Amino acid sequence: MLNVKKQDVMFTGIQPTGLLTLGNYCGTMCNWKIIQKKYQCFFCIADLHALTTRSYDHSIKYNFSANILDMVALYLACGVSPYDSIIFVQSHVYTHSQLYWILSNFVYFGELSRMTQFKKKISTYKKNINLSLFCYPVLMAADILLYQTNYVSVGSDQKQHVELVKKIARRFNSIYGDVFIIPDILITSRECKIMALQEPTKKMSKSDNNKNNTIFLLDNLDVIRLKLLQSLTDSDPLSRIKYNIYDKPGISNLLSILSFLTQQNISALEYEFKNYRYFDFKKQLSDIVCDTISKIQKLYFKFREDENYLIDILKFGAKKSLIYSKKNLFSVLQVLDL
Ligand code: AMP
Ligand code: TRP
Repeated sequence: MLNVKKQDVMFTGIQPTGLLTLGNYCGTMCNWKIIQKKYQCFFCIADLHALTTRSYDHSIKYNFSANILDMVALYLACGVSPYDSIIFVQSHVYTHSQLYWILSNFVYFGELSRMTQFKKKISTYKKNINLSLFCYPVLMAADILLYQTNYVSVGSDQKQHVELVKKIARRFNSIYGDVFIIPDILITSRECKIMALQEPTKKMSKSDNNKNNTIFLLDNLDVIRLKLLQSLTDSDPLSRIKYNIYDKPGISNLLSILSFLTQQNISALEYEFKNYRYFDFKKQLSDIVCDTISKIQKLYFKFREDENYLIDILKFGAKKSLIYSKKNLFSVLQVLDL
């Protein structure tokens, strides 16, 4: 059995709401190969969270299970090792929903109403503002606190949720003693938020209706090139490659991507590309993006071929996660006298 007690624990989750994107990669996944050496890592596929934005239109096919296997293969392609880490599906481990209910008693309506992601989602999903959309961060708290997590690896857009998780844990501990470890957020070494290619003031997202906004890790390389070449910039007559998110959100986003992938800082890139036209800059960027993604894709296709292997990883992951989380759930039940 994996010895989760001896080391610090890192927990992270991604919803299987669609294929993973360059945003997911830069925001969190690129870090995983390194951090799994340092921490006992739990990589959760948050399918219960994904239900919150599911439509009741039965003509829509979600392909949850295929999506989940794609995700596992991509996790492996990004360097996650099933021997070092635990990969599992949230709904396979019942303790998550149970702790979720318990923790809801320690969160206030006002706190959940202030969540930026909730506010954004209710404007996107106007016809399906369900209770779970509102309680989404409480389930996230259960995910994290069940494993006595020390670190949560997420992109910067999830900071507010992790702050709330810490607040919930502190509140619970202040009443019942040191039941939960207070987790810390682990942001990638170069914090970044990748924006949508055609609407660079909003986040690149896997569930965006406009597919030209998003680079999917499994997009054909020619498609990726085209999406980048056609990405929205601005009408600056001098076509300056300058980072300024207010005047030049498009170019700033492309610079962020390049900076992230080349590990060069933005000012060095501004200098390097100062005599380039937008089109030539985009061409260089697309070479670098395609180079990174093609390496991931090669590995992905190798792993994706063997579905039984991927399913075994998830079964093993669920078994281990259940053993570990059950112990913590029982401590919670005990202090609550349940
Ligand atoms: P999601 O795709 O919303 O389930 O997010 C999964 C993880 O990827 C979270 O840690 C997010 O913070 C991160 N992430 C998603 N999209 C982006 C993005 N456009 N830029 C940076 N990080 C992102
Ligand atoms: N809410 C996260 C997101 O949308 C996904 C997630 C679910 C998660 N449970 C988690 C992330 C626990 C970190 C820890 O990106």
